[in-house]
Amino acid sequence: MCQDIFLAGVNTSAVTLSWAMTELIRNPRVMKKVQDEIRTSLGDKKERVTEDDLTQLHYLKLVVKETFRLHPAAPLLLPRETMSDIKIQGYDIPAKTQMIINIYSIARDPKLWIDPDEFNPERFLDSSIDYKGLNFELLPFGSGRRICPGMMMGIANVEMGLDWA
Ligand code: HEM
Repeated sequence: MCQDIFLAGVNTSAVTLSWAMTELIRNPRVMKKVQDEIRTSLGDKKERVTEDDLTQLHYLKLVVKETFRLHPAAPLLLPRETMSDIKIQGYDIPAKTQMIINIYSIARDPKLWIDPDEFNPERFLDSSIDYKGLNFELLPFGSGRRICPGMMMGIANVEMGLDWA
C-alpha cells in the first residue's frame, strides 16, 4: 500500500514536475511564454493559481503535454502477458509471453514526430493527439484496462505544481 502511494502516486508526479521545470530553464522562450500567459490571464496580483484558473492556461497545458512526451515517468509501462497466441505485424507471439512496451522510444520516434528530441509545446497546437490512452504515439499513462487509475490526479498535480513553482 505504501509503495503504491509513494511510487505510483507521488514519485511519478514529482519526477514529471522536476522535468517540466528543467525544460523551462533549458528553454527560456517557452518559460517566458508560459509566465506571460499566467500573468495576462490571471493578473499580477493573484497570489495563488486555483484549479478553476487552469482552464484559461492553454499554453501551460501544452508545456505539460510536451513534458509527458519527452519524459514519461514509466518509460516501459507495466509488463503485460499475452493470453493467447497472437500475430503482431507479422511476428508470431505465443501465449503467456511477457510483453514490454517502450513508450519512451515511441514518443521520440522520428517517423512519428518532427524534431522528436526538441522541447516544442507548439507541436500540439494543431494536433488532436492527446495522452489519455487513445493515441498510441503518446502513452505516458498507459492504455487499456491497466491504464493509470490516478491519471486525472497526476495531471492536476503537475499542472498545479508548475503554476505554483
Ligand atoms: C504524472 C503522474 C502519473 C503518471 C505519469 C503515471 C503513469 C502510470 C503508468 C504509465 C502506469 C502503467 C499503466 C499501463 O501499464 O498501461 C500507471 C499505473 C498506475 N498508477 Fe499512475 N501515474 C501517475 C500518477 C498516479 C497517481 C497520482 C496515482 C494514485 C493516486 C497513480 C496510481 C497508479 C496505480 C495504482 C497504477 C497501477 C494500475 C494497475 O496496475 O492496474 N498514478 N501509472
